[in-house]
Amino acid sequence: MSMNVKDAIAARHSVRAFVQEPLAEAEISELLEAGRNAPSSLNSQPWRFVVVTKPADLAWFGTSEATRKQGWLAAAPAIIVCCADLAHYVKDSQSAAFFYRDNKIIDGEPMDGIDAYVARQAAADEASKFGACAMNVGLAVSFMMLRAVEMGLGTCWIGMFDEANIKARLGLPAGWRIVNLLAVGRPDEPEVYPRKRKSLEDIVLK
Ligand SMILES: Cc1cc2nc3c(=O)[nH]c(=O)nc-3n(C[C@H](O)[C@H](O)[C@H](O)COP(=O)(O)O)c2cc1C
Repeated sequence: MSMNVKDAIAARHSVRAFVQEPLAEAEISELLEAGRNAPSSLNSQPWRFVVVTKPADLAWFGTSEATRKQGWLAAAPAIIVCCADLAHYVKDSQSAAFFYRDNKIIDGEPMDGIDAYVARQAAADEASKFGACAMNVGLAVSFMMLRAVEMGLGTCWIGMFDEANIKARLGLPAGWRIVNLLAVGRPDEPEVYPRKRKSLEDIVLK
């Protein structure tokens, strides 16, 4: 199936019921590829992904230790654990700043602004670094969610989870934080409810 971005945005909705069959590795790679190409602050690309497809792990994700008893998750054929690598974020931002300067892509005052931004990030506490990284990870996940629609797949962003438990179970590096889980599979929904959205008048300041 091929569709334009407008159609993919219109069709995307959170899918919480899936056909019980595994996804092909190539399908997962396609999703990750979409995320890999997302924009990020100073091209820092702080996103890291762990693809969970083992039945025992998936079953565990439906338990209270992992996701506060969101039992339906156990029936997802794949869960992508979307992480932020705080340990490398500042260094990777710095590298891009060097690249911009060396190649004169950005010069003068804006470059000073970038240097100041990187210095602020280097001095920032973990919560601020996580906020900056999570914004970038969220963009990558958005790209993945739209690509999934084009591929006939459904996704759901899961924000309610127990980070410490999941980090321990999957053995994630200490410098990583989990931003969200992304459930993925072929939709098997009895009914798709119309999405409720605020009107433009509600969200645009005139
Ligand atoms: C930050 C965030 C956290 C969310 N957490 C959960 C969650 O833990 N469980 C869940 O079933 N859906 C979760 N969702 C999905 C939202 O409920 C859903 O996007 C929203 O109701 C709008 O519906 P739609 O995605 O179908 O347009 C989350 C979405 C976002 C963006």
